[in-house]
Amino acid sequence: MNDITGKMRKAFRDAEGGLFGDVEKADVGDQVVVLMKQGYTLMSWADAFFPDSATPAHVSRATADVILEGRGAHYTAPIGSGSLKVKIARKLKRENQLDVDPQRNILITPGSDSGLFFAMIPFVQDGDDVMIPDPSYPNNAQNTHILGGNVIDVPLDPAKGWALDVRAFEERITPATKMVVLTNPNNPTANVFRREALEALAEFIIRHDLVCVVDQAFEDIIFDDIEMVTIASLPGMWERTISVFSFSKGMGLSGYRVGYLVTNDVIMDKLYGTAVSVIGATNTAAQAGAEAALDDPSFLNDYRRIQKYRRDFCYKALHDIPGVRMYKSESGILSWLDVSALGAESDVVKHLRDHAKVLVNGGSVYGPSGRGHIRVVHGVLSSDEKFEDAVCRMRKALLDLSKNRKREASC
Ligand SMILES: Cc1ncc(COP(=O)(O)O)c(C=O)c1O
Repeated sequence: MNDITGKMRKAFRDAEGGLFGDVEKADVGDQVVVLMKQGYTLMSWADAFFPDSATPAHVSRATADVILEGRGAHYTAPIGSGSLKVKIARKLKRENQLDVDPQRNILITPGSDSGLFFAMIPFVQDGDDVMIPDPSYPNNAQNTHILGGNVIDVPLDPAKGWALDVRAFEERITPATKMVVLTNPNNPTANVFRREALEALAEFIIRHDLVCVVDQAFEDIIFDDIEMVTIASLPGMWERTISVFSFSKGMGLSGYRVGYLVTNDVIMDKLYGTAVSVIGATNTAAQAGAEAALDDPSFLNDYRRIQKYRRDFCYKALHDIPGVRMYKSESGILSWLDVSALGAESDVVKHLRDHAKVLVNGGSVYGPSGRGHIRVVHGVLSSDEKFEDAVCRMRKALLDLSKNRKREASC
């Protein structure tokens, strides 16, 4: 048979699906189910409370009502439910300092992954350079490659808690640079970019006439009273920014597949014009559930308390292990550890799988600066007890690894 992949775009040709290689991809097929049946604790999916049930009752009820009344069998407009957009506009004014017209500046998407891709499609073409902080969410790079662009990795500063430094952008900009894609709060490092750094970045983006796509999927849960700044609200940025939001992470509604894009009239006109062919429409019942979540978001207070407890527990249990350097998360459901002193990152991931029965992510997939790190999703499971047990197993396994390394070094 001819190799039909030869006809594909390079990014698809190069993609590893997990069917033919021997890589175990937890995000493909039923691998997750198989691993969980074997007793592994999955701390590698950024999915709050996974695999347990934690949906607020009023959200479930609103979703079920739409299905039981038969309305769920019909489309909303491809750009999203008008009433949901009104609620989102109120939230944007309250939380994001964005005063928008709900019927002109918001587009509902089936999750924010599709929104992130849709935000980049109009702009990124063959040969365009896209600047992406490193490390960051792997889709930022993959989307760029799919669209024919080149990624310019812009390293974050680990010594300053993975802060963003605009000088690193200045040093790397090229004549072909068209876009900056930012994930704030960042995944995998779970830090929140500060106002001063974002103001400097905004000035850089405007001076170089770039487009900004910002993914704020993790904005709902921020710790220690750190200020969450929406870059689109800074002077001069509304004209050139598409902001991407999600109900998946902080609200724990990943399976609902609801996200939204927010941008100015000029860009939105084009997105509205192509929404049917690019995203279709978002699930009707899920949009009703999302609307209920915005009507009464008080459950977020509990979620913030739970995730702060998880963040603190994880930090306390793991940060003092010899050979581990740990960054205290400032947001969400992720913890990020430098384990380079304990060996190759893939060996540490394997060691945790084999000795703690915990699955975590190796850091390299998040960009070159992620090498030697692991990402632990501390926000999984609804039971604190089961979560604590998994973290204690990790502590023991990492302590053993650390002792073994020390012994080897002294031989
Ligand atoms: C930073 C970031 N953005 C977006 C997404 C996509 O989330 P969803 O499509 O469920 O909204 C993820 C999921 O892991 C993520 O980590």
